[in-house]
Amino acid sequence: MEEQHIIFTQDVCHTLNEVLVEWSYDRLFVLADETTAQLCLPRLQNVLSVCNAEIITTQTDDTHKNIETLTQVWTSLSQYGATRRSLLINVGGGMVTDLGGFAASTFKRGICFVNIPTTLLAMVDASVGGKTGVNLNGLKNEVGAFCNAKQVIVDASFLQTLDHKNLCSGFAEMLKHSLIHTRE
Ligand SMILES: NC(=O)c1ccc[n+]([C@@H]2O[C@H](COP(=O)([O-])OP(=O)(O)OC[C@H]3O[C@@H](n4cnc5c(N)ncnc54)[C@H](O)[C@@H]3O)[C@@H](O)[C@H]2O)c1
Repeated sequence: MEEQHIIFTQDVCHTLNEVLVEWSYDRLFVLADETTAQLCLPRLQNVLSVCNAEIITTQTDDTHKNIETLTQVWTSLSQYGATRRSLLINVGGGMVTDLGGFAASTFKRGICFVNIPTTLLAMVDASVGGKTGVNLNGLKNEVGAFCNAKQVIVDASFLQTLDHKNLCSGFAEMLKHSLIHTRE
């Protein structure tokens, strides 16, 4: 697996611009769910290439992290003319980064993707480490692949719009990791 690159930033537009000018890709795609399309995508409006990208929007929630939604993402990529040199940017929580990562790692045998996590859980866990996938027949993450995002860009200011429950969910994950880090 490729090395995982993570950038922590307070200016996601500036960082994304810098990342995108370094890479050669032919077409840009952005995946978001209905909520992050509304609350988070507008934050990227200063990135010219994102303004010209094809936006793929899915329904919200882990229940939609399934084969049907995956097929919709593959179909959109195909219909909008994605090639092996296209780039997918996943903007959302773990649902979007898991789904988009798997869609990218399988479309045309694999295209590059960038994760921009927007929940605390995705920032500290789901968007890094290369685990991608979808649920199947009620089984969590039953189908998937290990594939690192080409870049993970973490801007904590996305958390300003996140509700208390989802903040606690990410925080619990952080506590779990620190508690099991050592026996003490
Ligand atoms: N790949 C991994 O290593 C890994 C690890 C842990 C969890 N996961 C997966 O991650 C998923 C859960 O991730 P999650 O907790 O981020 O849930 P999620 O992606 O479903 O997001 C939770 C809710 O918050 C909304 N949201 C996202 N960003 C927001 C923002 N900035 N402001 C307001 N609302 C926002 C979403 O639209 C959604 O309604 C599960 O599918 C789980 O299986 C994967």
